[in-house]
Amino acid sequence: MGKLDGKVAIITGAAQGMGEAHVRRFVSEGAKVVATDLNEERGKALAEELGENVWFVKHDVTKLDEWKTLVGDIEAKWGPVNVLVNNAGILGPIANVVDIDPEAYLKVIEVNQHSQVWGMKTVIPSMIKAGGGNIVNISSTAGMLVVAGAPSIAYVGSKYASRGMTKEVAVTYGPQNIRVNSIHPGFIKTPMMALATDADGGGIADAVPLRRMAEPDEVSSLALFLASDDSSYISGMEHVIDGALTALGAS
Ligand SMILES: NC(=O)c1ccc[n+]([C@@H]2O[C@H](COP(=O)([O-])OP(=O)(O)OC[C@H]3O[C@@H](n4cnc5c(N)ncnc54)[C@H](O)[C@@H]3O)[C@@H](O)[C@H]2O)c1
Repeated sequence: MGKLDGKVAIITGAAQGMGEAHVRRFVSEGAKVVATDLNEERGKALAEELGENVWFVKHDVTKLDEWKTLVGDIEAKWGPVNVLVNNAGILGPIANVVDIDPEAYLKVIEVNQHSQVWGMKTVIPSMIKAGGGNIVNISSTAGMLVVAGAPSIAYVGSKYASRGMTKEVAVTYGPQNIRVNSIHPGFIKTPMMALATDADGGGIADAVPLRRMAEPDEVSSLALFLASDDSSYISGMEHVIDGALTALGAS
């Protein structure tokens, strides 16, 4: 028996990296997974590989009208949505508040922050029809503390917002049996991290007390826990997965 048997789950940013790992894990635990991304080629290939319980939909998470169409289409095909993993995100420029290009700033806020609002706004009514649901918002350790030397007003702002919005929605929709939690990954081996480091992590692992970056699937274990009944009384909380990085404090 799978931990997500009978559940319908949306995972955004699902064509690669952590989103792809979550799709693989959720479908192996019995979920019907709607995998969404801008990257149609990779998303379709993933769905073809994993079979009829994975449905790829090309979807821009920044567009509220696309969210509305998505949820309507899912309800028609598979019924109401039980689980939402708001995973899609971009790093944006490493730039401080004075220097950041306004358009680049707004882009990061749109993709990392507004998308999570639009996702929750459209999916919660569907979850209420199902009698409740689970939302997992992907934030970052950049939503827990600020590390000197890599200023990123947009990324940090969006990831702190994700953490705060998680708590607000958990409190407001708890009475409707909707749980909402945030995940705060540290250094995870994904294409985004490869972009940030220009290599396979460079010396980045040396900064982590566990002395390594994580595999995306290690984060999937936490996402599965939060999306399943194993975490039935956990809501409104941040869950850090970082090999003890934030235990070092801001440095
Ligand atoms: N990799 C890390 O070390 C790390 C650490 C902390 C937090 N995170 C967060 O985890 C999440 C996943 O990161 P990742 O490392 O797997 O990234 P990734 O870049 O490997 O994958 C992100 C996916 O999101 C998709 N995407 C981007 N903009 C989109 C849009 N507007 N609409 C739909 N899809 C869009 C991309 O096409 C891509 O497939 C992000 O929210 C990221 O900020 C990553």
